[in-house]
Amino acid sequence: MSGAETILKSKNRITIDNVREQFPFFQQPQNRGLIYLDSAATAQRPQQVLDAWQEFNVLYNANSHRGAYKIAERATDEYERARAKVADFIGAASPEEIVFVRGATEAVNFAAYGWGLHNLKAGDEIIITEMEHHSNLIPWQMAAQKTGAVLKFVGFDETGMLNMPQFYDLLSPKTRLITVTHMSNVLGTIPDLAAIIKAAHATGALVLVDGAQSVPHIPVNVVELDADFYVFSGHKVLGPMGSGALYARREILEKMEPVFFGGSMISDVDYTHSTWNDIPWKFEAGTQNLPGAIGLGAAIDFINKIGIGNIHRHDRDLTDYALAGMQGIKDLRIYGPMHNRGPVISFSLGAIHPHDLATFLDSRNIAIRSGHHCAKLIMKRLRVPATARASFYLYNTKSEIDEFIHNLENAREYFSKWN
Ligand SMILES: Cc1ncc(COP(=O)(O)O)c(C=O)c1O
Repeated sequence: MSGAETILKSKNRITIDNVREQFPFFQQPQNRGLIYLDSAATAQRPQQVLDAWQEFNVLYNANSHRGAYKIAERATDEYERARAKVADFIGAASPEEIVFVRGATEAVNFAAYGWGLHNLKAGDEIIITEMEHHSNLIPWQMAAQKTGAVLKFVGFDETGMLNMPQFYDLLSPKTRLITVTHMSNVLGTIPDLAAIIKAAHATGALVLVDGAQSVPHIPVNVVELDADFYVFSGHKVLGPMGSGALYARREILEKMEPVFFGGSMISDVDYTHSTWNDIPWKFEAGTQNLPGAIGLGAAIDFINKIGIGNIHRHDRDLTDYALAGMQGIKDLRIYGPMHNRGPVISFSLGAIHPHDLATFLDSRNIAIRSGHHCAKLIMKRLRVPATARASFYLYNTKSEIDEFIHNLENAREYFSKWN
């Protein structure tokens, strides 16, 4: 497999081999030759992230914001430094607008419990799309059921594009929130967020953007986007599992209620009531995942060294290359747009069940995902129980995609004997 393709095309040329060398996962004997095409589920982690995690545990394991001794101060400093890196990475106006969470799922739940339950009332409307991951759907179903608010769904067409006329039709003075993905984890669609947010704000509605799939692949600037909430997971962006961030504009976070209560999130405590700490700490009750947050900071350092723009270009080139190759395979159907999309391609191949296809590819040492991808509304809309899905990241190469496509051809031939 050749990794001589370059990812960084400036004078500091970085090859994919250089990148892969920094991922212990690819160096393990049992993983040699593995073609990992499931980064949309979780990405592999570079040594730099593992080192940051290990250093915390070995050198300065201490709780944050409470110890007066040196290692506790270092733990607090590194944790807060990681927050500043996250803020900078997504263009937040200040680190206080970043709440550390376990991942995108927890971040949406924060918004639904902390903002939704206290700001929605019967008859209010939430506009959501049919292409949301369950993580950005179920918390809003809960909030709607508890408050009497109503969910309104924007569909998508056969090319996987959001039905924007329907969105504009649904938007009304009753709309309190639009919650939308920045990149579909099934279709790869990148909705026109600028148009959505502009129209939402013109009617006084807030917008939550699910950046779980976009933050790893495209430059994000929440201030330029004018998003009110933005969420993502650390583990999809080379960071540790159990790390992630909720961004919300300062005024929103200041008014938003805490979701968890206990140590660290208070300003003062009395017998029957207490007052809350400043943002973001009022949302971070109890001992936090310090090595997770610090590891996420290290992942951001790693990405910044390569450049998110270079990663974006590389992922887009791989996606275009894969789409072109896959289109040449008989009976292969691609779900989602063919241009301007994320590096995640859902597809079906004739009548082969996606699980059978994934198992066949696994026997050829190629890891893809199969299933409903936690997006059952998309499956219902496409009228399929499941799809196969390949997704790419900075460590993947065109030769891996050649191998993938070659084996899709093999699968077609193999299964044609049984159909
Ligand atoms: C678009 C999208 N949103 C949310 C999530 C949930 O992320 P997590 O499981 O890390 O909380 C995912 C995970 O696949 C996703 O793809």
